[in-house]
Amino acid sequence: MKKATSFSPTNIAFIKFWGKGDPELNLPNNGSLSVSLSNLHTTTTVEFSDKYKEDEIVINDTQDLVESERAIVHLDKIRKMAGINTKAKVVSRNNFPTASGLASSASGFSALSLAGASAAGLNLSEKELSVLARLGSGSASRSIPGGFAEWLKGDSNDTSYAYQLYPPEYWDIKAIAVIINMDKKEVGSTGGHKIADTSPYYQVRQSRMEEKIRNIKEVMEKKDFQRFGEIVEEEAIDLHLIALSSNPSIIYWEPGTISVMKMCRRLRKEGVLVYFTYDAGPQPVLFCQPKDLDRIISELKELTLVKESIVNDPVGGAHLIDEHLF
Ligand code: PMV
Repeated sequence: MKKATSFSPTNIAFIKFWGKGDPELNLPNNGSLSVSLSNLHTTTTVEFSDKYKEDEIVINDTQDLVESERAIVHLDKIRKMAGINTKAKVVSRNNFPTASGLASSASGFSALSLAGASAAGLNLSEKELSVLARLGSGSASRSIPGGFAEWLKGDSNDTSYAYQLYPPEYWDIKAIAVIINMDKKEVGSTGGHKIADTSPYYQVRQSRMEEKIRNIKEVMEKKDFQRFGEIVEEEAIDLHLIALSSNPSIIYWEPGTISVMKMCRRLRKEGVLVYFTYDAGPQPVLFCQPKDLDRIISELKELTLVKESIVNDPVGGAHLIDEHLF
């Protein structure tokens, strides 16, 4: 059995996954679309070997029980597919903090799926890898194909997967991840999905999702940046409204998050097209056109609650690399 290492970007969704139909299979209540980000990524090495008596999981140089358990459940799925019982060592490193709302589970499970499947000798297609990644974390399904990806809702294990709608070079837009607070979130996305339908507004959200998906695909086809930004921003607010009105209520925003949202609105009045979104956390991700990047970065530097800004281009999906982490 060989050792394999993969590199996977994270992704940020334009139209988001929030709430599951089948929690066991991680089947979403709606389809979603995203772009993979060039400067936020995970590298993972997996080795199955008889020399390991137990699975050994090291993520960002630490051995966290909860994170390890999730990874082992995923390794079990890979072992089952490959028909092996061999234990594994996994070393995984993000170039950004985990559980901070920067979609670490997306790049994490995408990278683990590819490295794990390859180390176990499985030769999976992109679709099969996306299905496998989805079982670890829904949004990870979209990091497998990368670029501008659509995760089809589907109604079975096999029909719910992501594919690349457009390659990364299709549209030259920038995605600025704005770091507000690196602390671990109080409620992760798994907890949020579980209670999404306790919001009295969840059914309203769901009744609009198919139309939203049609609309975003139409503006992406036309590369209509302004309309794209309007839809993305409305969708981000919609998701956080559900979180706020769930029982118990979840507040992901921090004062710094709101200061960035207001900055976007102010800049738009001055003719700079910049739009915000975020995942289940306080860090906004801003979309803009390359010509406006410098102006936006200098405005972000003026905001006292902003710690750092990471500029991303659209990028391709998960792939194997030769350099192992151990
Ligand atoms: O993949 P999960 O279970 O971490 O859920 C992702 C949830 C959001 O990031 C808020 C939305 C999305 O589609 O990425």
